[in-house]
Amino acid sequence: MKEAALVGKTMDESIQGTALMQEGERGSRKLYIESYGCQMNFSDSEIVASILAKEGFGTTRNVEEADLVLLNTCSIRDKAEQTVRNRLSSLNQLKQSRPEMKIGVLGCMAERLKDKFLDEEKLVDLVVGPDAYRDLPNLLEKVEGGRKAVNVILSKEETYADVSPVRIDSNGVSAFISITRGCDNMCTFCVVPFTRGRERSRNPETILAEAKDLEARGYKEITLLGQNVDSYLWYGGGLKKDFDKASEIAQASSVNFAQLLAKVAEAVPGIRIRFSTSNPQDMSDDVLHSIAKYPNICNYIHLPVQSGSSRILKEMNRGHNREEYIALINRIRKIIPDCGISQDMIAGFPTETEEDHQETLSLMDIVRYDYGYMFYYSERPNTFAARKMEDDVPLEIKKRRLTEIIASQRKHSLERNRAHVGKIQEILIEGDSKKSDQEWKGRNDQNAMVVFAKTGNEKKGDFVKVLIKDCNTATLFGEIVSED
Ligand code: SAH
Ligand code: F3S
Repeated sequence: MKEAALVGKTMDESIQGTALMQEGERGSRKLYIESYGCQMNFSDSEIVASILAKEGFGTTRNVEEADLVLLNTCSIRDKAEQTVRNRLSSLNQLKQSRPEMKIGVLGCMAERLKDKFLDEEKLVDLVVGPDAYRDLPNLLEKVEGGRKAVNVILSKEETYADVSPVRIDSNGVSAFISITRGCDNMCTFCVVPFTRGRERSRNPETILAEAKDLEARGYKEITLLGQNVDSYLWYGGGLKKDFDKASEIAQASSVNFAQLLAKVAEAVPGIRIRFSTSNPQDMSDDVLHSIAKYPNICNYIHLPVQSGSSRILKEMNRGHNREEYIALINRIRKIIPDCGISQDMIAGFPTETEEDHQETLSLMDIVRYDYGYMFYYSERPNTFAARKMEDDVPLEIKKRRLTEIIASQRKHSLERNRAHVGKIQEILIEGDSKKSDQEWKGRNDQNAMVVFAKTGNEKKGDFVKVLIKDCNTATLFGEIVSED
């Protein structure tokens, strides 16, 4: 799950706090919340804002006037945690001048460190794990009474299905809908199963209701979110791993991801639908057929592979080998001929040899991804890899391999972008381009960013036809063409 399309950058560089922006909304007390890491955290912050709005908190983008500052944190790599630690240090100064201001830590670091956080970072008043946000009102009461408060209980049921997110920091065009929480895959490098708990899916009726509500409020694009969306399975509630124990009736009336996609596509036919993240081992051909069948499901799949070496994939417990992944790519290209595909890669996983690394580069040459998110391996406490494997690839080798992976991706991104040049594509306008208010930015179906001049006849949220005229590795450039 990603916050931005990145080509030739590491994800760590992209981690940054985003202040939620719905100033002065309801309430006298002021909440300032920053999200780090994956889209799920950004989406969860909207749930937190909704829960706290009921307690009389309005959000602010000015941390200096906040009564409550919350950091929704990420643990995926060491650097992500360091970013949060640095932010806490900078908040320390502010807290000196405003001792009444309360500071809370949410998300994966809260879950990973639990009450240790309170010892390590003295200014923190509140530590709340990803499944415990409904308890925030009680925890705040404690904090306001001068005590410290912690709730990091992971849940078998919690999906926040009935919480209507406050769409903060939104462009009014695209929104997230969470559909699963947790992950059962236990990739050996990954901290997520420990911080987000076991996998559970959300009732499809509540997902459809949220999609319709977004449509009614003028949104034009929805991204269905989960650590592993292809594994979505609703059978009346409960953990995915307990599906076998459910009644025959519950099993027979269950809804899988391919079916959910179809339901959403039919419920909101004028809305673009995206989803993230797909784990290759859980992606069925039925999902590919749903994408091909419905024009409003975007032809784009984020399909992390992590390595091109079958031996390393096995060590990572990814559940598929190189050949199976290539076979899946071939089926995608056949069933959805113009599908955009992006990757996540990890350079320097324990025991990775130069040959394994070459396998990664050769897989990239075969797939020719549109873009990717690339990282070097960062050992995470308690994961299988941390417990059983030595982090034995020296840092300079990890970095060199990562540089080579990024260089390869840049080449492919440019090549893939060039293939759009000369075509007329439907673009959803998301807002002004970064560089100029005379230009729009928006995405094509395959999720490539497109920048083009305004004509004065269109507005944010419109679908327009754009002739793609030029590109670089990250962006397509075009001009609006008339509809007739
Ligand atoms: N659910 C997603 C991944 C979520 S984590 C999936 O199925 O792949 C997002 C990305 O962070 C991963 O795809 C991986 O590339 C990277 N990542 C996770 N743990 C990491 C670690 N310990 N070191 C470096 N990168 C890591
Ligand atoms: Fe992590 Fe693997 Fe799940 S990367 S989020 S354990 S699919």
